Amino acid sequence: MRFVLAPLAGFTDAPFRLMCQEGGADLTYTEMVSAAALAHGHSPTNHLMETMAGEGPVGCQIFGANENDIAVATREISRISSRFTELNLNAGCPMKKITQCGAGAKLVEDPAKIGRLLKVMKENTDLPITLKTRIGPHPQNTNIFEILDAAQEAGISGLTVHARYTSQCHGGPVHLDVLEEVVRRARVPVTGNGSVVDAKTAQEMAKTGVESIMIGRGCLANPHLFAELKASFRPASDTPAPSAPNALSLCARHLDYVLAFRELLATRFPGDHVPSVDGFASVKMHVHLFRYFNGRPGAAALRARLNSIRTLAEIRSVLAAAART
Ligand SMILES: Cc1cc2nc3c(=O)[nH]c(=O)nc-3n(C[C@H](O)[C@H](O)[C@H](O)COP(=O)(O)O)c2cc1C
Repeated sequence: MRFVLAPLAGFTDAPFRLMCQEGGADLTYTEMVSAAALAHGHSPTNHLMETMAGEGPVGCQIFGANENDIAVATREISRISSRFTELNLNAGCPMKKITQCGAGAKLVEDPAKIGRLLKVMKENTDLPITLKTRIGPHPQNTNIFEILDAAQEAGISGLTVHARYTSQCHGGPVHLDVLEEVVRRARVPVTGNGSVVDAKTAQEMAKTGVESIMIGRGCLANPHLFAELKASFRPASDTPAPSAPNALSLCARHLDYVLAFRELLATRFPGDHVPSVDGFASVKMHVHLFRYFNGRPGAAALRARLNSIRTLAEIRSVLAAAART
């Protein structure tokens, strides 16, 4: 079984992707990139598409609803395509600021439009085109099979299905029965997604016949989950997965990658307002440190300190305090 890191806006930047690849992920994705922003030359968007030395296969995910924007963005990404192994269309994000532009989960309501956007992507790049979507807008409309037909007709090379309806957002049951039927009908490899957090949930999803399993929230603070799950699919007689590094060494490593990534951005985009080391490290580490510390002794006090972190020195001081607890 292949295990894939889900695109997670605000989390799956290059440093975290690298952490997950070291933790066993076979494929990762960028955070979603706005096709409109790329088409209109919004320079900070380029930061989302930077990759770091040592990263393995990375798919680039775009969102948008305008065919012209999608065409321009696709060509732009193809220009730097040596970094990416595929170009993925987001047809599943339920956030209002995305759906009100007709993109993300709004597209789930219109399989023909998904097909047209994928065709535009296909016509503008040699990269494999893939789709990430949901099983339908709501339980009264399980239209994933129409989406599958439109996407295959457009020439996709793979499909990821978050086995929930748009109306469920990110909670509630994962509909493995529908996923299984998608796998049965699909002519392309299907990746399953939705609340896989441990060996039990991974094994349940594997029974649908999916080629790969995509993990989102389950690997936050636990980038070695991928290796753990892979080990659970091997015969018990095989070598067990090496034990995951402890939370503090993960934090230290993650911080090193964040600092290296900031250097990379500053070199690649001089004059492009790359934040200061203090600002960049604080913003990038904040969301992850909260999770790494969860459940540790003294976590409440550490989390209170995290709220006021503004500098690299403060981050290092919190890590040193955590090491003493
Ligand atoms: C904070 C957050 C950010 C997300 N960002 C994206 C995104 O950029 N692109 C996308 O296709 N899905 C995005 N998703 C959805 C996830 O990729 C995934 O489909 C969803 O979380 C279900 O998987 P999980 O249960 O393993 O987390 C996001 C979800 C969360 C919680």
